[in-house]
Amino acid sequence: MPVTTSAARPATLPQDFGALLREDPEIADVLLGELRRQSGTLQLTAAENFTSPAVLAALGSPLANKYAEGYPGKRHHGGCEQADAAELIAVRRATALFGAEHANVQPHSGSSAVLAAYAALLRPGDTVLAMGLPYGGHLTHGSPANFSGRWFDFVGYGVDSESGLIDYQQVRTLARTHRPKAIVSGSISYPRHPDYERFREIADEVGAYFIADAAHPMGLIAGGAAPSPVPYADVVCATTHKVLRGPRGGMILCGAELAERIDRAVFPFTQGGAQMHTVAAKAVAFHEAATPAFAAYAHRVVSHARVLAAGLEAEGFDVTTGGTDTHLIVADPAPLGVDGHTARTRLAAAGLVLDTCALPYGDARGIRLGTAAVTTQGMGDAAMARLAALFGAAVREEGDVLAEVRELVAKFPPYPG
Ligand SMILES: Cc1ncc(COP(=O)(O)O)c(C=O)c1O
Repeated sequence: MPVTTSAARPATLPQDFGALLREDPEIADVLLGELRRQSGTLQLTAAENFTSPAVLAALGSPLANKYAEGYPGKRHHGGCEQADAAELIAVRRATALFGAEHANVQPHSGSSAVLAAYAALLRPGDTVLAMGLPYGGHLTHGSPANFSGRWFDFVGYGVDSESGLIDYQQVRTLARTHRPKAIVSGSISYPRHPDYERFREIADEVGAYFIADAAHPMGLIAGGAAPSPVPYADVVCATTHKVLRGPRGGMILCGAELAERIDRAVFPFTQGGAQMHTVAAKAVAFHEAATPAFAAYAHRVVSHARVLAAGLEAEGFDVTTGGTDTHLIVADPAPLGVDGHTARTRLAAAGLVLDTCALPYGDARGIRLGTAAVTTQGMGDAAMARLAALFGAAVREEGDVLAEVRELVAKFPPYPG
């Protein structure tokens, strides 16, 4: 449905907004404003992507009305025939896609998935070894502001300050010293593949569970563009909305022996009724992710990130670890004379939307970005090289970068009409 907005170019809505426009113009205006923002600037936030119109259709479907506490065939509510069918399909597709014995597709988010994994395997007060927050650990990896830091005794491993790479010798030494009940891999900003086999070995050495938090790379794993933790981890937690391009949500994979514990940890221990429209949308995303087109997409996401990272280095940014194996890039703008916060402000003013994040060394912050969304938009290597030049110009405050960004996004709309 084409809609004329205040932007010069008409934006195309991926769904029929007619009823909303008639019923609630105030909130419709907000959503149209967000559509304009998403299609008038470049979304480089590493955790974001554009879902397909099919995923959005499932999210806006009548399953949004359905209560379905429990699991297929064991619900606390009546009328769950279609909800059961949706969940069984989602579970079947997830296990096939990732080669796992069991999938739980109910977690409301990545954080809910991690909470349930801890609930299934740990007791309050247990020691857990995870990447330290200053190096890229997620809030659920022991932040004092999060349930994880409050209820468990977290020990943080880091990365080598020179190379930016995980120091597995340090992980091993910390594991031997602290004897954690679980070791967690995964990060919000580590741009390289974790060595899952190494984590498994260390966990076995000290009798710990190995939980892989693959929130970021799960889509790359689905497309064969990153190694899978499934053969190595006791439990794999993930989000469905990053490179995987599904709805906002979480999932858990595990072996058959932990299936019942994981399911009970999700419902009824940490969640109530699952969001069945989201479960259906996850099923759609798994179906899409199983196609050769998605595999090609996942590989392009990585090759684009590499081109962009090299371009940023050429512009003077210091790219951590010297590049990337994934969709993620972390860069220190200090050589251009600004810190991460100033860089983000200048980039945002130029229509380049991204985050700041911790750097492997010192207290200064860098910028964190990803190529999942721009690749979904159909951009290629040439656009990535152009983007790197625009980054340099925006941070140095040279020229009208916003006009160039607008030209670029006009060529690659997220939802072409
Ligand atoms: C490593 C990691 N774990 C967990 C999460 C939590 O996901 P959510 O924001 O869906 O709760 C994230 C989100 O970015 C993440 O990067």
